[in-house]
Amino acid sequence: MGSVFQESAVRSGLVSKRQMDKVLEKIGREDDALIAATLVKSGLITEYQAQQLHVGRTKLTLGPYLITDWIGQGGMGQVFKAVHKVMGRECAVKVLPLEKSTALSRDSFTREIRLQAGLDCPFVVRAYDAGRDGNVHYLVTEYVPGTDLRKLVRRGGPLSMQHAALVISQAARGLQYAHDLGLVHRDVKPGNILVTPEGHTKVSDIGLAAWSMGLDDDPRAGKIVGTADYLSPEQIRNPRAIGPASDLYSLGCTLYYTVTGKVPFPGGDSKSKCKRHCEQTPWHPRKFAPDLSEDFVDTIADMMEKDPARRIATATDVAERLETWCTTSFEVDRPIERQAWTAPPIGIDDAPEFYPNASPDAPPLFGPGQNGSGHYSSGQYSSGQQGSGNFGSKVGMVPSDSSMPVLLDQPIDPAMARERRKPFPVGFVGGLLLGILLGALTALYCVREFL
Ligand SMILES: Nc1ncnc2c1ncn2[C@@H]1O[C@H](COP(=O)(O)OP(=O)(O)O)[C@@H](O)[C@H]1O
Ligand SMILES: [Mg+2]
Repeated sequence: MGSVFQESAVRSGLVSKRQMDKVLEKIGREDDALIAATLVKSGLITEYQAQQLHVGRTKLTLGPYLITDWIGQGGMGQVFKAVHKVMGRECAVKVLPLEKSTALSRDSFTREIRLQAGLDCPFVVRAYDAGRDGNVHYLVTEYVPGTDLRKLVRRGGPLSMQHAALVISQAARGLQYAHDLGLVHRDVKPGNILVTPEGHTKVSDIGLAAWSMGLDDDPRAGKIVGTADYLSPEQIRNPRAIGPASDLYSLGCTLYYTVTGKVPFPGGDSKSKCKRHCEQTPWHPRKFAPDLSEDFVDTIADMMEKDPARRIATATDVAERLETWCTTSFEVDRPIERQAWTAPPIGIDDAPEFYPNASPDAPPLFGPGQNGSGHYSSGQYSSGQQGSGNFGSKVGMVPSDSSMPVLLDQPIDPAMARERRKPFPVGFVGGLLLGILLGALTALYCVREFL
């Protein structure tokens, strides 16, 4: 009987017994870190999967999707990177945790899916599919490589006028598309603006929107949904009075944040932020970004106009005004940082599934329809699939055993396992010690002068 990792790897169906035996035979010793590194390098499992297998988690699927990485935690739940087991298409899977699966949240989740399914625009994240696996409800959308605008600014600082114009003008085009369909986003914020490494921008989470014509149908229509930092004054006063202009105010706040690195009304609680959105004007953006041109600052002001009637009229107007500054090239040279933590499991009811006494013949987790899983999708949810062409890593796509990765026929480098760990920062620590020593010597010298 092997280690937890070896057992889990085989039980998960990601690695066949034959493949595991071959790796063990090549390595010649029970070194889980090296076994994992070899499996990752040979393309059988991902780093995320290795991490999960180490702690005995074998459920790495949601319906027909194989989870390959953890993207992040959002307001609604976890977002994972996944690959369809048969089609091989890379996608993002958003999970609605069990604890939140009340009839109300399930309703709004279904509404989110229906709305997103109908959208087909290059500046809006496409919805592919939705389903349920046991008690976990999930939404599958296109995977947008890169990062979101919030992370981009937090990690690399405010963007230049040219870069901000490129990103926000595309977001405005995406919003115009939604507005033309009678949809209001209601939760426009930097975290919902996804930016690829080439600067292609897509608006995500249009699902919080309700058909602006039929607000009465939306159970959340009477409540404020969204982050207080980007809420429009009219949305604060009366969430039912919300219209496309509210998204433009929120986009204005988002642009303010993008070029200054500050939210318009920092500090205080949500109530105080709401009050200031209604009554106060934010600091002049040039206080934080002196290079902004007068016209650019005016555009932000026109978007953040408190009276919706006096605000810039349409998202197309926003896009056209900003396109004056747009740069043609955009390189996001800020790769997504690795998460410092062990990624959470899929869904909250996913207790470790390592059972040392389980039969080795236990059925693999692959296969559609198991464990009460079901799909919301029918033909109507497939809109927008064409043209994506986003076929990514096929890691774990096909249940194993069929083939032996080429890498397993080559010599294995034992240093591989160490490569995955962060090297000790010798230079930094050495420099620090040297600095302390020099400081102490100088202080000693000064003290001696006085004596
Ligand atoms: N389709 C996607 N492709 C890639 N990353 C995504 C996608 N959707 C969301 N993310 C990322 O997942 C994280 C959580 O997203 P989300 O649940 O939408 O958060 P929020 O509730 O703040 O909007 C964010 O870091 C976001 O950048
Ligand atoms: Mg989001």
